[in-house]
Amino acid sequence: MAGRLEGKVAIVTGAGRGIGRAEALLLAQEGAAVVVNDLGGALNGSGQSSCAADAVVVEIRSAGGRAAANYDSVASMDSGERIVKTALDNFGRLDIVVNNAGFLRDRMFHNMTEDEWDSVISVHLKGHFAVSRAAAVVFRERRWGRIINTSSEAGLGNVGQANYSAAKEGIIGLTRTLALELGRYGVTTNAIRPRAGTRMTLNDEIRAQAEKAAKMGKTQFADAMKQLESSKPEYVAPLVVWLCTDDAAHVNGRTFLIGGPTVGLFSEPELVRSMYSPRGFWTVDELLGAMPGIVGDLVNPAPPL
Ligand SMILES: NC(=O)c1ccc[n+]([C@@H]2O[C@H](COP(=O)([O-])OP(=O)(O)OC[C@H]3O[C@@H](n4cnc5c(N)ncnc54)[C@H](O)[C@@H]3O)[C@@H](O)[C@H]2O)c1
Repeated sequence: MAGRLEGKVAIVTGAGRGIGRAEALLLAQEGAAVVVNDLGGALNGSGQSSCAADAVVVEIRSAGGRAAANYDSVASMDSGERIVKTALDNFGRLDIVVNNAGFLRDRMFHNMTEDEWDSVISVHLKGHFAVSRAAAVVFRERRWGRIINTSSEAGLGNVGQANYSAAKEGIIGLTRTLALELGRYGVTTNAIRPRAGTRMTLNDEIRAQAEKAAKMGKTQFADAMKQLESSKPEYVAPLVVWLCTDDAAHVNGRTFLIGGPTVGLFSEPELVRSMYSPRGFWTVDELLGAMPGIVGDLVNPAPPL
């Protein structure tokens, strides 16, 4: 059954390829008019082209759907305003924002440049802010809206991706706060940590790294790649559509895993152990004695070689 989002208008950022494209196509199949935003650059964010967004607009229209292209980078406030304006000018309303655009500039932390840090924080974290900020004004007035943010399991920690991890975990904090601020206006904000084979995850460089690691006896990388090969971007999109339905109205501020056969809900961080000082504070001497009580069994995930 299609048409669950009939009459709605959605923005999908970075919708020219990969996961964003699949999300835009399914939203359109479900009846939403879609603004297909994409800068059309390379995997490292360089360059730009209208081709990627245009191709998806053509695909949606050929299937009988409604779509409009936007080629702005998500990483500035002006662009965020223009992307939202594209929805309002073309379709007269806005109901859904899927923040998805992004690229990688991986580097070991001690070699990471300021530009590599700034550009990744800018496209992912600020990009989510810029588009959601412009959309929030519209949603608040209309008393309805859906924001779906795109985080990553890399936010939980991943070697060579300090910039990306920081941005993606920042997106989780943003999601929780938007949920609290906008929930009262009928707007829900949730995040996904997707898994899908795209140019970001299945490119020649990654394949070469996986082969190199496998030769050294580390097969986890190659195993993860095999999983990604069968996890199509199209398998991510249904959860995004579901989050836009009224069935998900009570789901707000949450983070989901979605990839291949798996849909999962992440726990929210909570204090797991604590100690109380009857004096009102702890001294270093006291902590030296007492801290083993709460951290004594912890194991360093990356011990010295
Ligand atoms: N593929 C995965 O397994 C995976 C895992 C975790 C998170 N993600 C996240 O999912 C999202 C989509 O990734 P993907 O794998 O589909 O990658 P992709 O490279 O196939 O698609 C990303 C799209 O974003 C566009 N884009 C990049 N910078 C932009 C900007 N400044 N403004 C507008 N568009 C821009 C690109 O042109 C591209 O079309 C990203 O946020 C990524 O970090 C992907």
